[in-house]
Amino acid sequence: MTSLTNRRTFLLASAVAAPATNLGAVTEPVRTAMIGVGHRGTALTKQVLAQKDVRIVAICDIDAAARDAAQSLAKRDNPRSYDDYRKVLDLSDVDAVVVATPCDLHSEMTVAAMAAGKHIYCEKPIGVTPEQVAGALKAVRGAKTVFQIGQQLRYYPALRELMRQLHERKVVGRIFAIKAQRHSSFPKKPRKRPAWYLDVKRSGDLIVENAVHNIDVINWMVGDHPLSACGDGRTYLPRITPAGERMLDGYSVTYLHENGVHVDFSQFRFHPPGMKRPPNGQWYAVYGEKGGVEAGHSGGTFHDLYGAEGEIELVSPEVQKAKEDAMGKFYAAIRGGPKPLAGIEVAATAALTAIMGREAIYQKRVITWKELGVEV
Ligand SMILES: NC(=O)c1ccc[n+]([C@@H]2O[C@H](COP(=O)([O-])OP(=O)(O)OC[C@H]3O[C@@H](n4cnc5c(N)ncnc54)[C@H](O)[C@@H]3O)[C@@H](O)[C@H]2O)c1
Repeated sequence: MTSLTNRRTFLLASAVAAPATNLGAVTEPVRTAMIGVGHRGTALTKQVLAQKDVRIVAICDIDAAARDAAQSLAKRDNPRSYDDYRKVLDLSDVDAVVVATPCDLHSEMTVAAMAAGKHIYCEKPIGVTPEQVAGALKAVRGAKTVFQIGQQLRYYPALRELMRQLHERKVVGRIFAIKAQRHSSFPKKPRKRPAWYLDVKRSGDLIVENAVHNIDVINWMVGDHPLSACGDGRTYLPRITPAGERMLDGYSVTYLHENGVHVDFSQFRFHPPGMKRPPNGQWYAVYGEKGGVEAGHSGGTFHDLYGAEGEIELVSPEVQKAKEDAMGKFYAAIRGGPKPLAGIEVAATAALTAIMGREAIYQKRVITWKELGVEV
């Protein structure tokens, strides 16, 4: 058990007897190690540095240049440098780790962090195979420390309000179907990607590595995971990946849910910039008995079934503009605040749904949730 967990138990226990003004006055820094400080890990390092009462005590990466860059970014805290994450987990002055390594390492690092009694903020997806997801689920469920997945959309105020409108106000009534997409234009100069990303065994392929965010939003809208998936897709434009590599650049998946909702999701990376119908970008159209909602990640508009009421904005402009604070909520959970909104169930369900879609595309047949063999 980390010393912070013990210190927190002590501080919370003393807070009970303390005067009301002292309640919640946990000011000790949470000693954090950053593991994997490439593209995303650098952004997360900045987020961690912006937290109150948090100190970055260690930086870990197998790439010396990435380590050096992160060390200078976090020079305020003078972190030590490591190339082996296991050594970091052995450190008694590390309370929490933030992991942004390649996707196939997330599960193993989560299992190890839980065994070492560390809190963990781990990038998505939690695994690229059902076995990896199952391993992380088991480890987190048996642990007392905090686990949060890097599915930050769960913390978007606009999306949270949209879900309230769908679930509590039932704006569309019973949901029948969802049509969603994550389209982008083919870049003139494709971004240089690391080798692990192009190796689908490591990244999980585009649908698992990238669309896991959108697939999670869809599951959130429906309120459960799908029972089956079918779909098709391939590498249509080989320029995106080097010869011999296989990564989808276009696919569509249909998911069927127990409550009868069916979902059509597509991800095309060759949406012509001038093409407006359908538009480019990330969208969700939710169809139900009272009408439909067209939504993005910063809000949504309701249209009644008969077109009688005009369009109704579901999220106020203030909430549309409000920023997410996923990292802040992680540290709040460590200090005894609410459990993460994006915990292990969200992580496992999203990854498994994406994996089910990928396998349906690869195997060209219907894949069922049962076949995945993981109870969430
Ligand atoms: N939540 C989001 O919005 C978001 C955005 C981008 C990326 N991501 C996720 O973040 C992760 C990293 O993506 P990226 O774009 O930063 O990739 P990246 O290649 O830029 O960074 C990964 C880093 O991990 C390091 N690494 C590899 N193996 C390691 C090991 N065994 N121990 C320690 N470090 C190791 C690499 O050297 C590299 O510096 C991926 O899982 C990706 O899906 C999430």
